[in-house]
Amino acid sequence: EIDKLKLPRPELFDFHGVQMIHYFTDNWEAVQNFQARPDDILIATYPKAGTTWVSCILDLLYFGQTSPERQTSIPIYERVPFLEMFFPPILSGADQLEKLPTTPRLIKTHFPVQFVPKSFWEQNCRIIYVARNPKDNMVSYFHFDCMNCVEPDPGDWNSFFQRFMEGKMVFGSWYDHVSGWWKKKQTYSNIHYMFFEDLVEDTGREIDKLCSFLGLSPSAEVKQQITGEVQFDNMKKNSMANYSTIPVMNFKISPFMRKGKVGDWKEHLTVAQNEEFDKDFRNKMKEPTLQFRTEI
Ligand code: A3P
Repeated sequence: EIDKLKLPRPELFDFHGVQMIHYFTDNWEAVQNFQARPDDILIATYPKAGTTWVSCILDLLYFGQTSPERQTSIPIYERVPFLEMFFPPILSGADQLEKLPTTPRLIKTHFPVQFVPKSFWEQNCRIIYVARNPKDNMVSYFHFDCMNCVEPDPGDWNSFFQRFMEGKMVFGSWYDHVSGWWKKKQTYSNIHYMFFEDLVEDTGREIDKLCSFLGLSPSAEVKQQITGEVQFDNMKKNSMANYSTIPVMNFKISPFMRKGKVGDWKEHLTVAQNEEFDKDFRNKMKEPTLQFRTEI
């Protein structure tokens, strides 16, 4: 049992030009040498962009009919191992993946595109990238860092807000992350780039798009069932999806399934912060075709 009170908060450091913490770099060699298989599916996101949501959708699409008991007996972080996670005595993400009995393997990563092990590209693996508008992403990340003792100390909201704009977050700058993956899509066609806001707006439509990318054709009934199962309230109360079984998180501070909304940033950013953010955003974002919605 991990004692969350005694665990010191990790420090950020520069790692190949990206701010990281040691839990995600300590296994670097093994992760870089990870042998992807052609049918592996990588779910890549900046933290708090909807990783768990899409992980649950994919798990249901692939295994919901054949092994429905997975949903009620195996936590999502074991069904979809976190590639770069290294947190002894817990089995590392890479080792979990080696031992995974099911195929295809669904693999979670928060790596910026340049950190992805080369075998994924060599094997032409399917990759699903989920992006979320920066304001809600930042708010979600703040609450997460408050409740998760294996994240750096978030400080107060204002300092967190400044550091988000500076890219001083675990896995680096949000701007670099979403743009780097967006650029990759131009040369590597096996990426499905999707948005949290679209999922909120019409989950069924986004599941349809995922199915056509993955070459799956579930019945309308099955799709409807999945859409229901991954609704926020259902995932929030499902202990195998809501991270309540993980010892390092303090749910008294904030639950993992916090709000699941578009536009919650309005409850956090002051008018001045919002103006500062918009100005900074226009300077930083250089991908005119990459558009985000901060409300729907
Ligand atoms: P909030 O903190 O804004 O509520 P990740 O899985 O990448 O860590 O992202 C977590 C965020 O996704 C949290 O955002 C969480 O509530 C939201 N989320 C998870 N499952 C969801 C669902 N089924 N519907 C809507 N939002 C969901």
